[in-house]
Amino acid sequence: MNLKGKVAIVTGSSRGIGKAIALELARGGADVVINYSKSADEAEKVAQEVKASGSRALVVKADVSNREEVVEMVNRAQKEFGAVHILVNNAGYSSRDLWFMKLEDITEKMWSDVMNVDLKGAFLCSQAAAKVMQGQKEGKIINISSTPAVAGDPYGMVYTVAKSGILGLTKALAWSLAPHVQVNAVALGSIRTGWVEWLNEEERRSFTEEMALKRFGRPEEVGRVVVFLASNASDFMTGQTVIVDGGAVMR
Ligand SMILES: NC(=O)c1ccc[n+]([C@@H]2O[C@H](COP(=O)([O-])OP(=O)(O)OC[C@H]3O[C@@H](n4cnc5c(N)ncnc54)[C@H](OP(=O)(O)O)[C@@H]3O)[C@@H](O)[C@H]2O)c1
Repeated sequence: MNLKGKVAIVTGSSRGIGKAIALELARGGADVVINYSKSADEAEKVAQEVKASGSRALVVKADVSNREEVVEMVNRAQKEFGAVHILVNNAGYSSRDLWFMKLEDITEKMWSDVMNVDLKGAFLCSQAAAKVMQGQKEGKIINISSTPAVAGDPYGMVYTVAKSGILGLTKALAWSLAPHVQVNAVALGSIRTGWVEWLNEEERRSFTEEMALKRFGRPEEVGRVVVFLASNASDFMTGQTVIVDGGAVMR
């Protein structure tokens, strides 16, 4: 799928799935803004890989939950590359506690940490990028959600609520930004990134057993689905959720 001439912002692309999405978009020909909040060295390395694939890269430190920093990121993308065609809202708060904390132990801090990054962050980035996209009469927003938002889950209550909010945001934005901007979500199952290190053998086996394909997904397999949603091949799709989970959730 050809993304030559397109400009993409990928939030949280210093590592994990965001990194793979940035690299797949670059392989497709897009210039990419690599966003991070803490992992500066990793973000620089991603930028080098993007450049090695023949695309332009811009590294921007911005906390997605901070409106000023988000607006500045979008402004810098526009100034450097002249447009913003693709926004991938991927940045997510992560900790082992997030998964295994019981209802009675969930703190207000955990609630706001997760909501601020995963949900408010996606809203702020979409709001800032939409302004540019509406002006261009062209744009694609892809929001990264998670299968607990589709099917429920015994783990990660706050996370499930935030990722459910992402699906609502996707539908609301799809209506609000039609017809020139298409907005879709990807609900991910178990993808092999940093969090897998926190699982013990039994937990890994039980996650694997849930999937028809009996393996964790690879970040680049998510990246390729995002490339499809970022390309003209998906022009007649908006407000949809694509499930990428090795066949754990089937509806
Ligand atoms: N891995 C999975 O199995 C899975 C499954 C379902 C959904 N997801 C979702 O997919 C997304 C990526 O997951 P992942 O496993 O790749 O996570 P990860 O390895 O923990 O990476 C998270 C990324 O988000 C960035 N980030 C965190 N807080 C940020 C903030 N305030 N502003 C900007 N960037 C911020 C991090 O950058 P810094 O290091 O610079 O802070 C990092 O690049 C998340 O939304 C996650 O919820 C993942």
